[in-house]
Amino acid sequence: MQYKFPQNFWWGSATSAPQTEGAAFEDGKGENIWDHWFKEQPTRFHNQVGATDASTFYRNYRDDIALMKKIGHNSFRTSISWSRLIPQGTGTVNQQAVDFYNNVIDELLAQGIEPFINLFHFDMPMPMQEKGGWESREVVDAFAAFAEVCFKLFGDRVKYWFTFNEPIVPVEGGYLYDFHYPNVVDFQRAAAVAFNSILAHSKAVQKYRTLQLKGEIGIILNLTPSYPRSQNPADLKAADIADLIFNRSFLDPVTLGEFPQELVDLLKEYKQLPGCEKGDLEIIAAGKVDLLGVNYYRPRRVCARANAVNSDGPFMPEWFFDNYDMPGCKMNPHRGWEIYEKGLYDILTDLRENYGNIPCFISENGMGVENEEKFIVDGQIQDDYRIEFVKDHLKWTHKAISEGSNCLGYHLWTFIDCWSWSNSYKNRYGFIQLDLASQTRTIKKSGDWFADVSKDNGFN
Ligand code: BG6
Repeated sequence: MQYKFPQNFWWGSATSAPQTEGAAFEDGKGENIWDHWFKEQPTRFHNQVGATDASTFYRNYRDDIALMKKIGHNSFRTSISWSRLIPQGTGTVNQQAVDFYNNVIDELLAQGIEPFINLFHFDMPMPMQEKGGWESREVVDAFAAFAEVCFKLFGDRVKYWFTFNEPIVPVEGGYLYDFHYPNVVDFQRAAAVAFNSILAHSKAVQKYRTLQLKGEIGIILNLTPSYPRSQNPADLKAADIADLIFNRSFLDPVTLGEFPQELVDLLKEYKQLPGCEKGDLEIIAAGKVDLLGVNYYRPRRVCARANAVNSDGPFMPEWFFDNYDMPGCKMNPHRGWEIYEKGLYDILTDLRENYGNIPCFISENGMGVENEEKFIVDGQIQDDYRIEFVKDHLKWTHKAISEGSNCLGYHLWTFIDCWSWSNSYKNRYGFIQLDLASQTRTIKKSGDWFADVSKDNGFN
């Protein structure tokens, strides 16, 4: 076999509680910001579809796990919904939620699928948002307490824990670019949210370590390599700053235990440094992870700014670069994103060379496509484009591993077509097709293909 992967390589997929469970207002679940925002502004969501039912995992988890097994999963990531487990964010634990997560974990294990459990996937409980969300230290402590409850309830069986999925996304979406609640545009508040998320992560890591459970704790970051338009020093500088703001801001503290000095200097120069209390940096230093999840969809290409900054406008990362559309690049025309498979290799090489070759895995990669029904032949979606996409990314992953990268697995986004924030069901990513009206599940061609890859631990 030409592309054989290391023994025990993780083959599976990832999803999250708010995007799959549904039952948003059932069995004692509290409201989160998505439930709230959808009620307040349904027009923000594609076709005005919210996550009330999502893909009904809450009801169908047993059948879904059987399907996972059928398509070769040996591991699967989802998250625990904070607002389901602790409806007010702090205080009373919802026993129905405990039962549900126990059932999911036990069923996964019974089917030989390793549960990877994440604790925060953009879904702040509304009572916590009302206290200021990640801007509030009280919420940071509430999250650490929630994490501890999860570790105590499920840590005897769950061996792979993650504190956050893509913690920079709520910063970008909620506090800079207006695509998540609370729709604030304010860099200083964004910086506070980022800093407090890292603090919350670190406090949760500390709680985990104190309990001395047998397992590992990590975080999942969306690492988007920044490529300069040219080797001109101004383009190089633009790419370096984009990398600093969007990648190293989180990657450095969670792997090296400290913020990059250049980032601190830059924010200080522009008077945007978040507040930092005595002891915070020590807590962050102790929050280094055992395992890093890498989400990768597309590269970022940048160049030096063409025009002067309007310094009367809000301070933004784009004060330092322009986004650059590289002519002739390969595109996923459905999602409008560039496809650059080598980006994965570049990330894995960077982690090997500059981050101590930390144990990592591809925790999300995938291809969102609209109107996939048009690819149905004999009742099955023939998603050869997705097979090609995954194969090409796996080839670069394989090359990185052959050069020594400590990459332990590959999870597709996602298992079953799921609800995706304000895009709702616009882009379909699953190995399994979901018919929204009937909630029927049908394995796509890529799902059958993945079963073979997992069985053979590779492909030709
Ligand atoms: C990832 C997120 O970044 O992208 C997922 O972790 C999300 O939660 C996925 O669903 C796809 O996003 P989109 O915008 O293409 O639907």
